[in-house]
Amino acid sequence: MRSKNGHTTKDGIRIYEQADYQGMRVAGALAAKILDDIAQHVFPGQTTGEIDRIITQMVEEAGATSATIGYKGYQHASCISINHVVCHGIPGDKKLKDGDILNIDVTVIVDGWFGDTSRMYVAGKLPRKAERLIQITHDALMLGIEAVKPGNTFGDIGHAIQSFAESQRVSVVRDFCGHGLGQVFHAPPNVLHYGRPGTGPVLEEGMFFTIEPMLNLGRPETKVLADDWTAVTRDKSLSAQFEHSVGVTADGVEIFTLSPAGRFHPTYDKS
Ligand code: MF3
Ligand code: CO
Ligand code: CO
Repeated sequence: MRSKNGHTTKDGIRIYEQADYQGMRVAGALAAKILDDIAQHVFPGQTTGEIDRIITQMVEEAGATSATIGYKGYQHASCISINHVVCHGIPGDKKLKDGDILNIDVTVIVDGWFGDTSRMYVAGKLPRKAERLIQITHDALMLGIEAVKPGNTFGDIGHAIQSFAESQRVSVVRDFCGHGLGQVFHAPPNVLHYGRPGTGPVLEEGMFFTIEPMLNLGRPETKVLADDWTAVTRDKSLSAQFEHSVGVTADGVEIFTLSPAGRFHPTYDKS
């Protein structure tokens, strides 16, 4: 069924128009710039609450809106997930310790368009096992993105991520997934980070969504803490995540949340 603003597939996935890519570029670039600029504020002794306060200020100063403040009662401009926290860590008074790894996830709204991205950071010295998990998680995301082109399926994306992760003997979290986004935060489809080739909806030009794999050194199972947000690995093993917002183009993919400074990964190479 066609309407003035593009159309929606049988799977409920909205197909955006050519002009809509520009809105996503602007929103994605702001989210990515905030993640570039926050790197210098990550160090041992820093609190996640202070990092979030700075992010809140950056969003305001850009004249944008945080997508997460007020979202289902969430009250912060970022999610900050340390060590065995898989995702949706709530910023607070907790001080970062030397060797902590953390994911910072920011979603902004610019002129009605959503930019959603996250990366890994380290406070102080990066432990060897953490470095390996972070590298694998980054590479898994990029392999998933390489599978994005018209005619491929969402199962191809999940398969690319899962097969690489498991070949490196880390596990893929099943309890959280990527999502369609654009003029809304979370829309169909669920973008699974595991799957079989050729399964799931077929990718078409004009689809906008996130890919945001969470990989664990131990088992994939998670649980949500009593605060109703913080998701942790059940076995307390280390978890890492990277997220990009992307659009399917005529012949491949456009990443909307590329780092303007080229610092998506690693964030901790200060050279
Ligand atoms: N940015 C997260 C995502 O990647 C969603 C965070 S929702 C919040 O989808 F309420 F926890 F902030
Ligand atoms: Co997301
Ligand atoms: Co996010």
